[in-house]
Amino acid sequence: MRFLSYILSAIIFATASLGCGIDRAPQFAPIPDSAKGLPIGIGGYGIESYGKGAYMVTEGNYQAIFFVSTKGVIVVDCPPTIGHMLLWAIGNVTSIPITHVIYSHAHADHIGGVTLFGNKVTTIAHVETARYLTLTPDPNRPVPKVTFKDSYTLRVGNQTLELTYKGENHLIGNIFIYAPVQKVLMLVDVIYPGWTPFALLGQTKNVPGYIRSHYQILDYDFKHIIGGHLGRSGTRADVLIQLEYVLDLKSNCECAINTSATDDSDIGATAVFGPVTAKNLGNGWAPFKVYLDVMADYCANKTNAKWLGKLAAADVFQFENAGVMIESLRIDYGILGPSATV
Ligand SMILES: *[C@@H]1O[C@H](CO)[C@@H](O)[C@H](O)[C@H]1NC(C)=O
Ligand SMILES: *[C@@H]1O[C@H](CO)[C@@H](O)[C@H](O)[C@H]1NC(C)=O
Ligand SMILES: *[C@@H]1O[C@H](CO)[C@@H](O)[C@H](O)[C@H]1NC(C)=O
Ligand SMILES: *[C@@H]1O[C@H](CO)[C@@H](O)[C@H](O)[C@H]1NC(C)=O
Ligand SMILES: [Zn+2]
Repeated sequence: MRFLSYILSAIIFATASLGCGIDRAPQFAPIPDSAKGLPIGIGGYGIESYGKGAYMVTEGNYQAIFFVSTKGVIVVDCPPTIGHMLLWAIGNVTSIPITHVIYSHAHADHIGGVTLFGNKVTTIAHVETARYLTLTPDPNRPVPKVTFKDSYTLRVGNQTLELTYKGENHLIGNIFIYAPVQKVLMLVDVIYPGWTPFALLGQTKNVPGYIRSHYQILDYDFKHIIGGHLGRSGTRADVLIQLEYVLDLKSNCECAINTSATDDSDIGATAVFGPVTAKNLGNGWAPFKVYLDVMADYCANKTNAKWLGKLAAADVFQFENAGVMIESLRIDYGILGPSATV
């Protein structure tokens, strides 16, 4: 009897711990070789040289870059997950001190380790990054000492970096960092070489600005693009393929919204809104929740069919990526589908 009740409570516990029906051990498609990152050394990090003192450091999930000059080392970003390893990587290349630290943007996962460089370094960021940081004061992300609005040329010894702001993309204040001699370009949280973007198109705060930034990248004469994530840098080909993916997702989502304004038996407004409205009279959010989920699911399926196996993890965040695109098409681009009646 005790044994039976033990089994019973174990079953109840197991069912309860599965929570809201979330699969805790899903099996996703394998990662193609083209997505694999730099080899990680015994220090826990991988390093790539672009010549003339330019390097990228990664621990496999995040990336920072640094430039060795005759007068000091310039670092861009310090993700906490790389942290001390960035000091090791620099220390193993040069004994020249770190003098300048650039913040690509305000997010803690990219700059939350910058205090490792001490408080004597010159910190540089866009004026909107400084403003954003004052909204959420954080001792790990000191407000930058130097800010700029449109562009800023940083010359330290023999190294030159061109910092440029081209409007909001992933986040307000997210800047392009360009080394013209090495033809290295960094723009964080936009391009994911070999991979589909992280959830919500890399947590973008501005989908049209995010899409535009692909073209802005392509305007540069670069050999290496540093996206800030995963294990490798990218090339022009990586930017072009991601642009194709994003435009494909956009067109699939736009088609779906337009079809949902018809009497399509699968995703048409009557088919989608009817049953949920009948069950939830007076609840205006309920049909919308179902509508948006059905749209995102439909577009995720359609986009998966083309991208699975081409870009890594197309099946992981496709629903979130389709969802943010659907919502942006509706409220940014004005493709309102069934809500378009004037
Ligand atoms: C060089 O890197 C190793 C880890 O690979 C680290 O243990 C060592 O302290 C580093 N040297 C310097 C000078 O930072
Ligand atoms: C600048 O000087 C450093 C240190 O001597 C050197 O490693 C690097 O290649 C030089 N870079 C350029 C762009 O001249
Ligand atoms: C969707 O509908 C809008 C508004 O009627 C139209 O401008 C747009 O071209 C349509 N897009 C597609 C992909 O059919
Ligand atoms: C998307 O694919 C899943 C799994 O194959 C399926 O269950 C679901 O019905 C599909 N959704 C749409 C809207 O086609
Ligand atoms: Zn970010």
